[in-house]
Order: sequence, then structure tokens, then C-alpha cells
Amino acid sequence: MNILHISAECYPLAKVGGLADVVGALPKYQNGLGQEASVIMPFYNLKFFNENTFDVVYKARLKMGESNIDFSILKLTSLNLGFDMYCVDIRPLLYQDNVYSNDDTKRFLAFQIAVLDWIKSLTKKPEVIHCHDHHTGLVPFMVQQCYDYKILRNTPTVLTIHNAQYQGWFGYEHLNLLPEFNHDHIGLLDWDGTINPLAVAIKCAWRVTTVSQSYMEELQNEANGLEALLKHESAKCIGILNGIDTEVWDPMNDEYLEKNYKVTSVLSGKKGNKKYLCQQFNLDPSKPLISFIGRLVGEKGADILPQVFESILKQESCNILLLGSGFDETEKALLALKDEFKGNYNVYVGYNEQLSHIIYAGSDFLIMPSRVEPCGLNQMYALRYGTIPIVRSIGGLIDTVTDIDDNGFGIRHKEVSVKSSSRAIERGIDLHANTTKFNDIRKRIMKIDHSWDVSAKAYVYLYNSIINP
Ligand code: ADP
Ligand code: GLC
Repeated sequence: MNILHISAECYPLAKVGGLADVVGALPKYQNGLGQEASVIMPFYNLKFFNENTFDVVYKARLKMGESNIDFSILKLTSLNLGFDMYCVDIRPLLYQDNVYSNDDTKRFLAFQIAVLDWIKSLTKKPEVIHCHDHHTGLVPFMVQQCYDYKILRNTPTVLTIHNAQYQGWFGYEHLNLLPEFNHDHIGLLDWDGTINPLAVAIKCAWRVTTVSQSYMEELQNEANGLEALLKHESAKCIGILNGIDTEVWDPMNDEYLEKNYKVTSVLSGKKGNKKYLCQQFNLDPSKPLISFIGRLVGEKGADILPQVFESILKQESCNILLLGSGFDETEKALLALKDEFKGNYNVYVGYNEQLSHIIYAGSDFLIMPSRVEPCGLNQMYALRYGTIPIVRSIGGLIDTVTDIDDNGFGIRHKEVSVKSSSRAIERGIDLHANTTKFNDIRKRIMKIDHSWDVSAKAYVYLYNSIINP
């Protein structure tokens, strides 16, 4: 089956978060199942794009409102990612130093129109168009309603919601940027008085998936602005848990690590990576190392971290290391603790792929006090690297982490609060003191299979169910 994934991010080309990891892995696993999956994304002014070679495979001009925009479709030729990788090159609109900017309504609309224009020109057209998040949410509408894309009308569209916190809302003053469509159906664009690309896709896509089952239940049952719509569309909605790319995330072959290891060498392997981290960040190797990796935003519970860290570090029973960037205020509060807890605490503000791998490998615990977590990949990477996750019970974290008190292998807590999160970390420190149990769990979690094998099949099954109902 010929499947085209449309996304704003794709690892290793452009990554802001887990969306990139998913779109960089799922197609490869689908191809492993004998499918023909490929990806199309914007061509950004980022390192990867400028250091690799691409062939121009299509050139055209699109109209948005009063403007004519020239664009090219490029195909990556210098690397084999396990799937064909195409990019939409529109300069200067898409070709910027960041994936996202304050001009995103126009940027992603142009991207989506260019993609459809290109698909229309193909002799071998995709049999399924798979859209990811709101940046591609108008595709299902345009396929269904725009006169220009009539030829694609019977092509099934699938929307995967990775994060419904961002919906891409824009006002009706931008309506003229859309290609001509049947105005009898203008209501499809509307949700709560604005144009809402994520809601539009939920209405128009043939199937809607979320990246875990628990997240689908939360979106359908809790107040978030989309619950009524998702309940109404529930017949076409399903949660499919993300997997991880076990070739990229493999402690035995991970080139970023100080020391490679497998289940049988987990203790010495993790010790080597921890030693490196402790040297680099001036931490005490004799104490458990608790880490956080991620965007420093409210969704991730990052705002409570400074207080959590303060209360835990005062007990002098562990080290804490954080890698992340986000809200200024949170970054400042985290940095401000450095002097007080020198020798047991450090922070790296910024994005660093290599360091993230070493932290997964060298830490004893990884914390995720998330308010919202549609799936979460960090906890699955941690498991694969023998690092015990300490997570809030929400979304995909519920579906992937079982508490040690329920015969599981991780630590869960209920609330996003300093008390609840600190208590969970204390339970981790107690577990660390029980060396036999702690080491046993480390070995056990490395064997859990979270690879894409199962979920890639679930998506193919879903596509088949729409193509041959
Ligand atoms: P989200 O997409 O909501 O940010 P996920 O858990 O799905 O959360 O994925 C986050 C991905 O981004 C993981 O691959 C994680 O390792 C990576 N990541 C997050 N912040 C950083 C950072 N500062 N440096 C390196 N990698 C990061
Ligand atoms: C989003 C979610 C995260 C999920 C990722 C990949 O960014 O916040 O929970 O793992 O997408 O699907």
C-alpha cells in the first residue's frame, strides 16, 4: 500500500519533540511490513537540510489569496532513512531557522497546498494520506471540499493527534488564503467561532487516531474544548500507542554513549555512562541520579520542578540533572538552584540530542511529572536504557508504566504537585537503596518490547479497514 505521511517534523531532519521521532520511525517500520510509506515535510534552513543533497522532482506555482508562490518538491538523495523523504521548498516562507514561528498559519497552509498540488501531479498517487497534528489538519478538508483537488476526493485521509494542546486556530480574515471550496460546507472549518485546523481534521479525516488509548479517553471525556467533537466522531476514533525506533535507541549500538551495554552488562554499562555524566556535571557518583529531559512548559509539569528539586536536594540523598529549554521563568528558577546545591545538581539549558542519549543511559531514574502526556517517548527510551521512570499517571504514561507496588517496574504518582512528585522521587530513592530489587528491575525493563513492530501493524490494519471495509 502506498502511504504518504505529511508532517512538520521528521527525525533526523528537523526535531522539536516526539512528533519527529514518530514520523522518522513509523514509515520505516511500515516499509518493513511490505508497505510503500514515504514522508513529506517542509524544507527548513536547518543543518541537516543544508548538509545533504536533494533532487528537484517537481516545480510549480501556487496561489494564496492575492499572492503567487513558487515552490519545489525535493527528494532526499544522500541518505537512506528506510523510506522516501520529500520536502516542500518555499523560500523564504518555509525556509526559516526554526521549525515553528509566528507566521505559521500562512507557512503551513502554503505547505499543505503545495503537497496537494504535487500529489495531484503524481501518476502513482498515495492510497492513504496520513496527516500528523494541526499543521496538516486542513489537508482532509481540502481533499474533500476544494475544487482543485477533486481528483483526490476518494483518497482516504487519516489524522493522528500527537498533541491537542496546539490546534492551529486562525481567524476568518485568512479565509481567502484557502483554495476555492464549496461554501455550503464552510461550517466544517469552524469550531467555537474560529477556524480550527485540528477540529477540521477531526471532522473531515476518514479516521482519527491519538498516540495512546488513555489519551483518546481523556480527550473524549475531559474538558479540553474538543471533547464534544471527539465524542460525536467516536466511531472513527482509535488510540494507537506509539512505539520507539529500537535501531536508533539501542544501548548496545548507540554511538552517542560513553559505554555501550546490553541486559547482561547493564550494571557496568550504566555505571560508565553515569561516571561520565558525574564528571561533566560535577555530581556525586555514589548517589542515585535522577534526571529530567524535555520541553520546560506547563504540559510537562516543568513549572513545579524548581520546588520539587529544592525539597529533594535538601535531603542530600541524590543528584539531579536536567536537560531542557522552554519558559524563561522556569529556566531561571532552575538555574538559580545551582549554587545552593553544587555537587549534587546541574542543568543544561538547550537542546542536545547526544547528551539526551547519555542521560537516558547514565541515569538511575527519569522523572516526568506531566500535566498532559499524549504518549511520551522519554519513558520508553528510559526503559530501553535500564532507567526507571517516575511518572505522573496521565495519558500514555498510564499505558506504558506500571507501579512497583502493582508488580510493575516504575513509580507513578497521581497529582501534579510538589508534594506528590517529591514523594514519588523519595520512593525511587528508597528503591535504589534495595540494591537487589533495583538491579533486578533495571534488567527487567530493558527487555520490555516497545518497538514499532506492533503499532506499525495496527496502522496498516486501520488503513486496510478503510480501503477494503
Ligand atoms: P514531546 O514531543 O511532547 O516533547 P515526547 O516524550 O514525545 O515529548 O518526545 C520528546 C523527544 O524530544 C524525545 O526524543 C526527547 O529525548 C527529546 N528532547 C526533549 N527535549 C530535549 C532536549 N532539550 N535535548 C535533546 N532532546 C530532547
Ligand atoms: C507530542 C506529545 C507526546 C508524544 C509525541 C509523539 O508531542 O506531547 O506525548 O509522545 O507527540 O507522538
